[in-house]
Amino acid sequence: MTRTRCDRTPAWAQLEAAYQADGKDFDLRDAFAADPQRFAQFSQAAPLVFADLSKNRIDAATQELLFQLARESGLLAHRDAMFAGEVINTTEQREVWHTLLRPPADATTASAHEAQALAQVHGTLDAMLAFAEAVRADGAIADIVNIGIGGSDLGPQMAVLALDAFATTGKRMHFVSNVDGHELAATLAKLKASSTLFLVASKTFTTIETMTNAQSAKRWFTTQGGVDIARHFAALTTNVAAANDFGITTTFGFWDWVGGRYSLWSAIGLPLAIAIGADGFRAFLAGAHAMDQHFRSAPLEANLPVRLGLLDVWYRNFHGFTSRSIAPYHSALRRLPAYLQQLEMESNGKRVDASGAELPFGTSPVPWGESGTNGQHAYFQMLHQGTDVVPVEFVAVKKARHTLGAHHPLLLANVLAQAQALMVGKADAGGHKHFPGNRPSTFLLLDDLTPASLGALIALQEHRVFVSGALWGINSFDQWGVELGKVLAKDIAPRLDSGDTTGLDGSTAGLLGMLRA
Ligand code: F6P
Repeated sequence: MTRTRCDRTPAWAQLEAAYQADGKDFDLRDAFAADPQRFAQFSQAAPLVFADLSKNRIDAATQELLFQLARESGLLAHRDAMFAGEVINTTEQREVWHTLLRPPADATTASAHEAQALAQVHGTLDAMLAFAEAVRADGAIADIVNIGIGGSDLGPQMAVLALDAFATTGKRMHFVSNVDGHELAATLAKLKASSTLFLVASKTFTTIETMTNAQSAKRWFTTQGGVDIARHFAALTTNVAAANDFGITTTFGFWDWVGGRYSLWSAIGLPLAIAIGADGFRAFLAGAHAMDQHFRSAPLEANLPVRLGLLDVWYRNFHGFTSRSIAPYHSALRRLPAYLQQLEMESNGKRVDASGAELPFGTSPVPWGESGTNGQHAYFQMLHQGTDVVPVEFVAVKKARHTLGAHHPLLLANVLAQAQALMVGKADAGGHKHFPGNRPSTFLLLDDLTPASLGALIALQEHRVFVSGALWGINSFDQWGVELGKVLAKDIAPRLDSGDTTGLDGSTAGLLGMLRA
């Protein structure tokens, strides 16, 4: 498992030279004028996702250098190490094996260890899907409340919304994540204890927000006359013992080799399984698995996660672009940007490499955005005419699942028009009405938004984040950066009662005083 940090490869210096020579002045309009084959050359079909990369500031020579960078960095060996279940999360001494949650039960395995792990995966999956079907059939349960945060919230919430068209139960799904009691209180106000199922989702079963919300939900349940915790509470966790101590006996486990932000495919996906049913959930896994196979086996030159990840490195480290706007032109994908923020920023928001050495280059960009066309009437002004270049990643879906005739063509016309406008611009001497153009975008196209295509889209995003993280030489699978705030909050909480400001900085002490007054 040898990786060479990207800046220590010969290709890195060559890319720097290429950027200085003509990369920085690259003009998309000239590139299209010069090459009628550009769309074909810079598009890539992958399972259930088609990508048009042609509106990016890249030419064949740069792309070849980026492939060389990938080879020289040892990307392929690192990828294979992940799929083989090696301990690539070195700071936590863990395997990184979320991909093993997705193959069918009879998939070929490469080792006895893998075969055993896959058997465990399917044992739990079968039990969880049987439970999901039982809940779906249970007429007495009307509301499902998922209590979890971070990866135990963003994935299931995003996916349940995205696949709303496939939700056939008529049950209401609620997601409570914030420790802010307003959220839980507002949800509880709509519920009846006798018809509610709480899913307490926490990999560690120690996260303070989730534990606080779960305690309050349990208290509310008994105060409301609720009986039978085993029927009305289930825990989704790697820490089954802690869930039992909490008083929850209905549990679905997973393993420490599933990172929180990669856990949607595990028991954490139970809300989705309840919403779309066992077959739908299996299709979701199959779509992701198809993308895994593509990432594992397609040559670099025809490998979509690789091409996207390399473009991310080119933009972040050579062009210096610090963010990427995610523009899903499908309202059901409106939580996708939030989901991708955790995926990319918690994975690649690192300032040291795997050996602990400080990095001399930038890492995670900031993914952000809203669904289209809403974003157009909010921040697209800046994307078209602002001083910073922000690459945009459009996601469009060919087929509509509604019958309101005029809407979908209009939606698709808008997504095409935005990508076009960003690139072609519009000359106007007046200044204010001048659009500089040459603003890059990627266009991801799904035929239909289904469990399988959503699975493929999310796995694609996981792997593109893997690619840039691998080249940067970082550990994309730990998240030490969230720990300090947790420790300090524990220290501050009792001070809000006692008023003790000993050892606090002046600002924290001042604010604490105001909050107590
Ligand atoms: O604090 C960050 C984090 O650890 C995320 O990585 C994780 O998804 C989230 O908290 C929730 O953790 P858990 O599922 O253990 O409650």
